[in-house]
Amino acid sequence: MEKMIGKTKLSLIQGDITLQETEAIVNAANTSLLGGGGVDGAIHRAGGSKILEECKQIRAKQKGCPTGEAVITTGGNMATEYVIHTVGPVWSGGNRNEEQLLRNAYCNSLSLAEKNGIKSISFPSISTGVYRFPVDKAAKVALATVKEFIQEHRFEEVRFVLFSERDLKVYEEALKEIFTS
Ligand code: APR
Repeated sequence: MEKMIGKTKLSLIQGDITLQETEAIVNAANTSLLGGGGVDGAIHRAGGSKILEECKQIRAKQKGCPTGEAVITTGGNMATEYVIHTVGPVWSGGNRNEEQLLRNAYCNSLSLAEKNGIKSISFPSISTGVYRFPVDKAAKVALATVKEFIQEHRFEEVRFVLFSERDLKVYEEALKEIFTS
C-alpha cells in the first residue's frame, strides 16, 4: 500500500528489512547497541562486523543509546548505505510513557536521517517483537508520527517493512484509519 504525503511516498510492504535498497534502514536496537535477536540480529548478521565496530565507537563516546534516541552507522555489507539504530520502549501496560517513547524513536530516526541528507528510509515495526508493544497500537503511533513529520520535512520515500502478512494488514488498516480521520 502506498500514500503520497506532499512529495513523499509513504509505503507499506511485507519483506526483510536487510534487503531494502533505501539509503537507510532503521534497526530496532537495545540501549547497549551490542546487537541482539530479531531485526537487530538480522541487521548485524547481514551487515557484518563493521556495524558492530561503529556501534562500539559510539558506545565509547556516549555509552549506549537511551530509549527513544537514535544513532547512525554504516550499512556494512548490505545494499543500504546507513543503519539508523533506535531503541523503542518495552511495553509495560501503557502507563510508563511507552507511546511517547515510541514517537520519539520514529522522530529522532527521521531527524537523524534528514541531518545526514538521507532521502529514503525503511522502518521495521519497532518495539512490537521482543518488546511486546501491541502491534495495533504501535502501528497507529508509528504512522501518525511519520505522517506528521513528513508533512514538514521532505523525503523521497519512507517505507515500513513488515515481517509478517499479519503485521502488514494491521499497518494497512491503521494507515486507512489515519487517512480517513
Ligand atoms: N525485517 C523486518 N522486520 C523484522 C525482521 C526483518 N529481517 N526480523 C524481525 N522483524 C520484525 C519482528 O517480526 C517485529 O515485528 O521486527 C519487529 C520488531 O521486533 P524485534 O526485532 O523483536 O524488536 P523489538 O520488539 O523492538 O525488541 C528489541 O529485541 O532483538 C532484540 O536487541 C534487540 O533488545 C532489542 C529488542
